[in-house]
Amino acid sequence: MTIETETGENYEIKDFSLKDEGLKTMQWAESRMPVLQLIKKRFEEEKPLKGVRIGACLHVTKETSQLCEAWLAGGAEIYLCASNPLSTQDEIPAALASKGVHVYAWKFMDAEGYYRSIGNVIKARPNITIDDGADLVSILHKLKRGETDEEVEIVKKVIGNETDIIDEVWGGAEETTTGIIRLQAMADDGALLYPIMATNSSPCKNLYDNVYGTGQSTIDGILRATADLIASKVFVVGGYGHCGKGIAMRAKGLGARRVIITEVEPHAALQAVMEGMEVMSMHEAAKFADIIVTATGCKDVIRKEHFEVMKDGCLIANSGHFNVEINIPDLEALSTNKTQIRPFVEQFSLSNGRKINLLGEGRLINLAAAEGHPPEVMDLSFSLQALASEYIVKNKEDLAKMGEKVVQIPEDIDDNVAYLKCETLGVKLDELTPEQEKYLSSWRTGT
Ligand code: ADE
Repeated sequence: MTIETETGENYEIKDFSLKDEGLKTMQWAESRMPVLQLIKKRFEEEKPLKGVRIGACLHVTKETSQLCEAWLAGGAEIYLCASNPLSTQDEIPAALASKGVHVYAWKFMDAEGYYRSIGNVIKARPNITIDDGADLVSILHKLKRGETDEEVEIVKKVIGNETDIIDEVWGGAEETTTGIIRLQAMADDGALLYPIMATNSSPCKNLYDNVYGTGQSTIDGILRATADLIASKVFVVGGYGHCGKGIAMRAKGLGARRVIITEVEPHAALQAVMEGMEVMSMHEAAKFADIIVTATGCKDVIRKEHFEVMKDGCLIANSGHFNVEINIPDLEALSTNKTQIRPFVEQFSLSNGRKINLLGEGRLINLAAAEGHPPEVMDLSFSLQALASEYIVKNKEDLAKMGEKVVQIPEDIDDNVAYLKCETLGVKLDELTPEQEKYLSSWRTGT
């Protein structure tokens, strides 16, 4: 539904009357994201983003609303679309539209709506792109290369035959692991056309958001969808990267009888074993599992041969960025019937007589059935995104000289965010004495 806002502009959101609910929810997030508020306050004074057009493809949540507020305070014009068809919290686009953000997002959007929304962001000719999963960057590159597919055709209906919009982009930032993998592959092939800051690769992002954010919100999504007990269950996690670690840790904490990890990488497998988890193949683990969650970034982690050995009633969910980790066509092919048994739970009846419960259509369960990562942890991630945006504006010439690369956020920016988070949590750090400074620097200089 296209909505006419108080400022008379067009946005594509579900329902503008949700605005007041959205504004209250934004307040809730604001009080839980203190570091971002400090950045917003400085941005208000310094206006480092004055006149800058930011094109963002992010989960449109209460936490994202706070990043938008910081950008607005800095003087940016914001064009925002959803980075997943199920992750939008519909009251937030309504509230953001009332504040002048150009927002194109609603929960349960179809593929046409999803790419039309990306088209609307591209049409604004952004100077900076902020992605979660690299869909916005990918479409901008396809347009420039003259590639066409169904997605590009939908975008072209919005923007016409323009191919060079990418030339106005100074730089970008990427929020998530999957996006970084896609962008690094493009950079390695010489296909990336502008520099992108790897927000996900910064310690302030992946040590906290990926572990504690994904850990808690994935369990939250499973519980909201099923209201099941975790204690006494056999809980299988596909992948033991930062996200898998967080999920496994929280499943253990809630009393899962066994937490089993499946891995392809020996170090990750060893870490899991040292943390007291069992490690085995998915084929073995699927036989015992009550709950299986994937968090690998790879496709077909759960597929035909695994569905065939699962116990009756097994729950399966995905917490990775794309809905490819569970092979749903395989599940459908093995099934005689499928029922939507409750919101976000589809029950598949297999020809072997067993039932398998698929949560959230195999899309990231923490954002589909719950509210994504809590604001306290997104405070770190989105503080980095706000500072990455400022960095791109201040350093666009240097970034252009560095070339088309995936670039680390400078360490001092990351350290500063961690330091501020400690301060806002009341965590007091020790300080080195002058003698200690001298001692450490003697090692550094070798004197
Ligand atoms: N990614 C994971 N959780 C999120 C949230 N709450 N808001 C925006 N992006 C997210």
